[in-house]
Amino acid sequence: MEKKRIHIFDTTLRDGEQVPGCKLNTQEKVKIAKQLECLKVDVIEAGFPVSSPGDYQSVQEICKSISDPIICALSRAVEKDIEIAGSALKNAKRSRIHTGIGTSDCHIRYKFNSTPEKIIERAIQAVKYAKKFVEDVEFYAEDAGRTRNDFLARVCESVIKHGVTVINIPDTIGYCLPEEYGKKIRYLKENVKGIHKIILSTHCHNDLGLATANSLSGIINGAKQVECTINGIGERAGNTSLEEIVMIIKQNSHLNLFTNVKTKMISSTSHLVSECTGMKVQANKAIVGINAFSHSSGIHQDGIIKKRETYESINPEDVGIDKFSIVLTARSGRSALAYRYKKLGYFFNKNSLDLVYSIFLRYADKKKEISDKELKIILEESNLMNDNKKKKLITID
Ligand code: KIV
Ligand code: ZN
Repeated sequence: MEKKRIHIFDTTLRDGEQVPGCKLNTQEKVKIAKQLECLKVDVIEAGFPVSSPGDYQSVQEICKSISDPIICALSRAVEKDIEIAGSALKNAKRSRIHTGIGTSDCHIRYKFNSTPEKIIERAIQAVKYAKKFVEDVEFYAEDAGRTRNDFLARVCESVIKHGVTVINIPDTIGYCLPEEYGKKIRYLKENVKGIHKIILSTHCHNDLGLATANSLSGIINGAKQVECTINGIGERAGNTSLEEIVMIIKQNSHLNLFTNVKTKMISSTSHLVSECTGMKVQANKAIVGINAFSHSSGIHQDGIIKKRETYESINPEDVGIDKFSIVLTARSGRSALAYRYKKLGYFFNKNSLDLVYSIFLRYADKKKEISDKELKIILEESNLMNDNKKKKLITID
């Protein structure tokens, strides 16, 4: 069976940048956009140009600097927003306007004080107006996660009639369960006239830690584009993380899906985004956390030194990390200690390793982690160096 390509729509510079305290200037945004181009994402959502002159300028500069990915700008279903988005995108080689409106009962009633019919009319007008500026128009049905499926289908059908190219189904408040979100996508695939003409997109928030699971369920049920961010940054608990969804697709060939992302650039991209935004990546974050490929318990260390696959499902080299790391703590065993000494050029026989290990445990019980410098101190304390002229092989009978 032929593999289906999933388009990666990166919104680090728009939804990701909405995080309090992680404001990026134009130079930083251009730098990240260039990195995203090297990573080979399909779409870069560069900003929300009407929101500030700085954001408008960032979108403009990104358009000038980027050749391959589509550059997308966000707008509300408001003429002025759309005009400004169109103007900011003028120099893009390939441009897209992302416009939309809330479709859930809650948004219609409380946010817009409106009616379902009027919302459909505004959606149509927004798409028609955006088409005056660009050919490629994406429509988002905000809070689609809580929108009734029959009404969502009507909204989709109406905008398809007016030439929309992509429809985004955001789970704006991270409300859905994976099965429910997947069913929503399937329902639209099966009930909306003209759905085959457009790309359905997922855009899932992580309020219940389900963003990636929901996106996965969406693509299994027929969505072709995933909206995501580097390190999963974004409003509140964040968005689907790019590295997670891309690696899930890569690791599971039975899904018959692929992306164009150069996975070996994931680690460097994660570092760049963290550095520019000042948002530290949590240590145990999947794929890009500092502990994602570190092993500290003796049983795991012993296994992974014998064969990497015993305790790792992902090869760290696939995401641009040289190798797993062995962290020395009081839970580590002799094989981990010998492994780290070997890296420093020291080899032991059984008796000498037993002696060094007993000193190591005394140190390790007092500290979180033992460094290379401390390993040398431990060796000196053991007096083994004095007994062995040949530094490389340290033995006691
Ligand atoms: O979460 C959301 O609904 C959004 C839309 C503006 C696409 O970010
Ligand atoms: Zn969002």
